[in-house]
Amino acid sequence: MQIEETTDQMISIVGSGRVGSTLAMILVQRNIDDITLVDVIPKLPEGEALDLSHMAAELGVDVKIKGSNDYSDIRGSDIVVVTAGLARKPDMTRMDLLTKNTGIAKAVSNEVAKYAPDSKLLWVANPLDVLVYVALKTTGFKKGKVFGMGGMLDVSRFKEFLADYLQISRSSISALVIGEHGESMTPVPSYTSVYGIPIKNFLTEQQLDEAVDKTRKVAAEVIAKKGATFYAPANGIARMVEAIHYDKKALLPLCTYLEGEYGVSGLCIGVPAVLGKDGVERIVELKLSEKERQSFDKGVANVKEAISSIQI
Ligand code: NAI
Repeated sequence: MQIEETTDQMISIVGSGRVGSTLAMILVQRNIDDITLVDVIPKLPEGEALDLSHMAAELGVDVKIKGSNDYSDIRGSDIVVVTAGLARKPDMTRMDLLTKNTGIAKAVSNEVAKYAPDSKLLWVANPLDVLVYVALKTTGFKKGKVFGMGGMLDVSRFKEFLADYLQISRSSISALVIGEHGESMTPVPSYTSVYGIPIKNFLTEQQLDEAVDKTRKVAAEVIAKKGATFYAPANGIARMVEAIHYDKKALLPLCTYLEGEYGVSGLCIGVPAVLGKDGVERIVELKLSEKERQSFDKGVANVKEAISSIQI
């Protein structure tokens, strides 16, 4: 079948569940661009689109919002965000989703490659680092055009713990979390500051270790208490969408394919990188402390093992 290309710019969100619909709400409130929501559940995306359109009408926001069960409706997308997949339940790790979500990732990636071959593909479903790799290999897109959101969420959590210890405004804190978006995520105190003043001037090693540990574990607490995490994740995704849409060339933590950076090749994992209209434009390499390096390497080993256990 001949696919017609359109010149319209649009943001598509595949998966209209908790994260996808919350993201759509934020994007409408920020009046960024037209949105198409896709899901396999009949009527759900159309229902979300109606509800969001009513909100837009009162806000006076004129972006078009469409819901569909048909992937051909993502045609012409500039950005495709994928939140489609199972979410973890209490007592599950992100890696427990591997087998089922790899199947969904392959199916979704094939549809994106077919209908939105010129898009930037921003992955969200877990286990994030493995599925970004699956999406990259399945679509055959250039490496800078397929990347994932995990670090932005992990940074939100790290910042919140630090603000709590410091009793200083959250807005004064600049923090970094890299590595696996999973059990071995790597908060990086060496490159975390309070308005440029190194965090080590304010907190003891023990307080920092505690903040790092809590950052790794707090998602499980949210899931145990409310069943899922979606406000902070959707905010992290929205920041990345804005960086692409407005060609901000923002330096953000994101999951991308490494070819020798950080001594790692042939897999996707979280690192600081510059994000703009063409996707990931540049990876920034940092010298890590011994403790940070060990955690990063453990995350790399986890992702490597998971990739070797699946069929792509
Ligand atoms: P949810 O269950 O509320 O929504 C997922 C949606 O995907 C459902 O509506 C489902 O019908 C849909 N879906 C499943 N297969 C599909 C397909 N082939 N095509 C289109 N839609 C399909 O789940 P929630 O809470 O929105 O989480 C979504 C994913 O995002 C999960 O894998 C979760 O672990 C992950 N997540 C990742 C975060 C990150 O930081 N990277 C943060 C939070 C969640």
